[in-house]
Amino acid sequence: MKISINQAPKHEGQKVTIGCWLLQKRGSGKIQFLQLRDGTGFMQGIVVKENDESLFETAKGLNQETSMYITGTIKADDRSSFGYEMEVEDIEIIHESHGYPITPKNHGAEFLMDNRHLWLRSKKQHAVMNIRNQIIKSTYDYFFDNGYKKIDPPILTSSSPEGTTELFHTKYFDEDAYLSQSGQLYAEAAAMAHGKVFSFGPTFRAEKSKTRRHLIEFWMIEPEMAFYKHEDSLEVQEQYVEYLVTQVLEHCKLDLERLDRDTTALERIKAPFPRITYTDAIELLKEKGFEDIEWGDDFGAPHETEIANHFDKPVFIINYPKEIKSFYMEENPEDPRTVLCADLIAPEGYGEVIGGSERIHDYDTLKQRIEESGLNLDAYEWYLELRKYGSVPHSGFGLGLERTVAWLSGVQHVRETAPFPRLLNRLYP
Ligand code: 4AD
Ligand code: MG
Repeated sequence: MKISINQAPKHEGQKVTIGCWLLQKRGSGKIQFLQLRDGTGFMQGIVVKENDESLFETAKGLNQETSMYITGTIKADDRSSFGYEMEVEDIEIIHESHGYPITPKNHGAEFLMDNRHLWLRSKKQHAVMNIRNQIIKSTYDYFFDNGYKKIDPPILTSSSPEGTTELFHTKYFDEDAYLSQSGQLYAEAAAMAHGKVFSFGPTFRAEKSKTRRHLIEFWMIEPEMAFYKHEDSLEVQEQYVEYLVTQVLEHCKLDLERLDRDTTALERIKAPFPRITYTDAIELLKEKGFEDIEWGDDFGAPHETEIANHFDKPVFIINYPKEIKSFYMEENPEDPRTVLCADLIAPEGYGEVIGGSERIHDYDTLKQRIEESGLNLDAYEWYLELRKYGSVPHSGFGLGLERTVAWLSGVQHVRETAPFPRLLNRLYP
């Protein structure tokens, strides 16, 4: 019977066949231990010389990444965290691999990135993609179970919700177009048609940042809710993030173990999350020794990390100054220098994972803000019209998938959280 490695627990004591690759092997003159992988998991195969000498010679000659059908009996194995291994009885080689470039020795990051198409096969990268996949699944589950509809915004756009400096320009026949920076403006239109919606798709930022948190192409989840005040949106955010963390802890145990992720830090992630105003955060930073920071400055990674370290859960920094945030954010009635917005900062130095706000719903105010921001009114006419026909208070947010994967997996750089990351100076493979 043909099975996959993840089905092995159901076949203890049975003779089965698995299509797989050789990850690594070790052994002596008497026994070979084959590390097998098939995409669903990793398992050890054992070949004993005494039992079958020609099979033993085949096993000894296997190269890294050779593909094969391997047949044998599944046995319990309490030394491995998977819990099962195979006593191999037959090996049918499908394709012999020679000179696989990624060997068990240490390679530099650039070399691994050049070989990303192969690096994806390694144990750690496999675990990170499993966690990414779980977050994707749990995102759909969360929003569908809570009455949201998925509405897909366009990728080719004429607008720039997050400022004009980071746009990817392209020609759209005779017109100018940009790759979407965010689906938000379209999600707002959809919320006026469907109430609670979310988008989940690729977004693009031509940012000249070369940090461990920035990608040029990243995936964003953007919920938008009609009749939700900013406070209501914060509650959605903390419940959604708590859900993602609990689902990853429950379904990705082996992956987290393979990544040596300290899960106690994740087990603490329960709503509600603490909140600190931007203004208080400035004071806190001054006390912590950032003497040069002034009210009105934006936060960089060291500032965010310092603020996050002050709490043991993700923290919302609320009410940033209007000048450093996007044009569409509603003014804070209690302090008109600031807006009704929040950035959610993850613990352990992973930085901002969510940006969100209440949106301006008054026509004249929004028009004025678009003009003040130097944007071309023509491109936003449709967006303004949402404030002309039954405008309502509404709020939404955007969660960055790759930063969230990095945080939950415990990997230091977002380049390992996208299957084929687009980075400054990297379009290959
Ligand atoms: O804070 P941002 O720019 O917010 C928006 O785009 C809003 N329109 C969202 C909304 O309200 N619907 O981006 C949101 C999140 C960030 O918190 C971060 O997690 C991620 O997107 N992000 C990036 N991730 C990787 N690389 C980049 N260059 C990123 N820029 C933003
Ligand atoms: Mg932001």
